[in-house]
Amino acid sequence: MSHHSELDSKICNDSDNETIYQVIDKAVSRRRMIQGGFGAAALAMLGPSAAALLGGTAQPAAARNWSLIGFQGIPVSDTDDIRVPAGYAFKVIQRWGDPVSADGPAFKADASQTWQDQERQMGMHHDGMHFFPLPYGSTSSEHGLLVMNHEYIDQNILHTDGTETWTPEKVKKDLAAHGVSVTELRRKGNDWVVQTSPHGRRLTGYTPMRLSGPAAGVDAVKTAADPEGLTVLGTLNNCAHGTTPWGTYLACEENFQSYFVNTSGDVPALQDRYGILTQSRYRWEEHEERFDAAAHPNEPNRFGWVVEFDPYDPESVPVKRTALGRCRHESATVSVGPDNRCAFYTGDDARFEYIYKFVTNRPYDPVNRDANRDLLDDGVLYVARFDADGTGQWIELTHGKNGLTAENGFPDQAAVVINARGAADHVGATKMDRPEWTAVHPVTRDVYVTLTNNTRRGNEGQVGADPSNPRNNNAFGHILRWREAGNDPTATEFVWDIFLMCGDPDNPDINMRGNINGDIFAAPDGLWFDDQGLLWIQTDVSAGSLLRTNHIPFGNNQMLAADPNTGEVRRFLTGPLGSEITGVITTPDHRTMFINVQHPGEGGTSPENPTELSSWPDGPEGGRPRSATVVIWKEDGGIIGT
Ligand code: FEO
Ligand code: CA
Ligand code: CA
Ligand code: CA
Repeated sequence: MSHHSELDSKICNDSDNETIYQVIDKAVSRRRMIQGGFGAAALAMLGPSAAALLGGTAQPAAARNWSLIGFQGIPVSDTDDIRVPAGYAFKVIQRWGDPVSADGPAFKADASQTWQDQERQMGMHHDGMHFFPLPYGSTSSEHGLLVMNHEYIDQNILHTDGTETWTPEKVKKDLAAHGVSVTELRRKGNDWVVQTSPHGRRLTGYTPMRLSGPAAGVDAVKTAADPEGLTVLGTLNNCAHGTTPWGTYLACEENFQSYFVNTSGDVPALQDRYGILTQSRYRWEEHEERFDAAAHPNEPNRFGWVVEFDPYDPESVPVKRTALGRCRHESATVSVGPDNRCAFYTGDDARFEYIYKFVTNRPYDPVNRDANRDLLDDGVLYVARFDADGTGQWIELTHGKNGLTAENGFPDQAAVVINARGAADHVGATKMDRPEWTAVHPVTRDVYVTLTNNTRRGNEGQVGADPSNPRNNNAFGHILRWREAGNDPTATEFVWDIFLMCGDPDNPDINMRGNINGDIFAAPDGLWFDDQGLLWIQTDVSAGSLLRTNHIPFGNNQMLAADPNTGEVRRFLTGPLGSEITGVITTPDHRTMFINVQHPGEGGTSPENPTELSSWPDGPEGGRPRSATVVIWKEDGGIIGT
């Protein structure tokens, strides 16, 4: 998220365990930057289907000299609209406040809808998203459930008079605009029509959810309202997402800490490690006591999890899967191993935090869906260490191993998962430049991760550059990738390199130039592989960081496509003013793409003038800016990206 205020001051990992990269091999990192690719020898390990996908021949894929990208890249934009390449068209659907079922309450342009209305309408600040074909098990590209996260809110837009008056009803509306939405859609030509449907559903900041896995029912998650420690109200700050092979959705909780406050003057170490401050972002604690972390010290321990739910069952109770560890989760991206055990990759998006992997102990059952119901409660959590020689290790975060013992503050696995950050500190994981989304190549299983930026790297008293985060003052970010040993996502060793360094080739500072082959961008965040092997990249350059680094050449936030083999990048879409492009998925036939536009107008809204910066998508007459989903198709009906 791009919320850079004083609340952000506790965003970095200032634990003092040394990284193993105190001595920087500048020559190695420089060489990596320039080469920017896995060698032909590594690619030659791939089977014939991989070679076909990557190169169209049995040759090593590195020999391919044509591009997977078929569209003409578009220029950067500084206008309040959406732009797509020639031959493409789009339509806006499912804006904040539109009903999730066709019989729900309509949006009111002055934002006067109640919290009861809001809990039947699309939330704010759309983020990670998936299309689930209907019925379950089909590959329909005409009918399905669109499921998405609503990360956070802009109170100046959500409430008619902003926060001038502050009431319990307004807190309730704030909570109702968070969470997840499910909408049943049917294709009609190039339009997608919201159905009246029991599937049309909202999870909010107060929907009851079950805690499961090692932390369920332990003392550290018990509260006055939930003495059993088994039922949590709500999911918050759902940024990126994941899915499972058994058709469930994973809503990941990112910056949960900002909703809490501790003014006691004596913040417990665990709250401090997760960044709880003396001021909350939205002042909920004034009307909803559980957000006061001094009075209710265990409530924050019930957030920061990966939440699984079944969108096909409107009655399903979401489950917080604590075995996957607690952090500011970005996506939880699955990769299925050769024996059907499943690995889930997740980044902890804060400066100097870590990349985690969870591997299920049992294989998933492709035939018996019910057998997979609690697969995510039983598995092994790892954290990544990127070594200077281009290899890496997954270090196990299991009680009793790698020093995670009672003497070191980890008396059981619950303590490990609740304080996953502390466990990762203890085992010497690599501190990264804000890991955002991970994406898995559909054939090679190579994993790519966006490292969005870290302007504090190398500052006085902070960790300096290392081979996997090779720039001090990393203003523009980079994309790193790895390949698991034997291409097996359950492996504990891997090789890695840097796919690309973002930047502006015309910048006078060599540290700011990067090495992008094609259209430039900065602050990569959203990342997704389509089935064709195209890598889609979405940017989150915040208004604040635009000013700090004066990087006007990048224009508004955008989405690009990269060919993972040639490294070529082309710009596919540019967003409206003050927005971020988030979430991307296509229908199974690859002919319809859905993307999200998050927080148009950010940095330019006030209760008196919510449209000061942007009035997208409804226009100057339409009222306040609204996050929304954009449906994109090729005018010739072809496959997106080709
Ligand atoms: Fe909500 Fe890390 O982006
Ligand atoms: Ca953001
Ligand atoms: Ca971001
Ligand atoms: Ca993000």
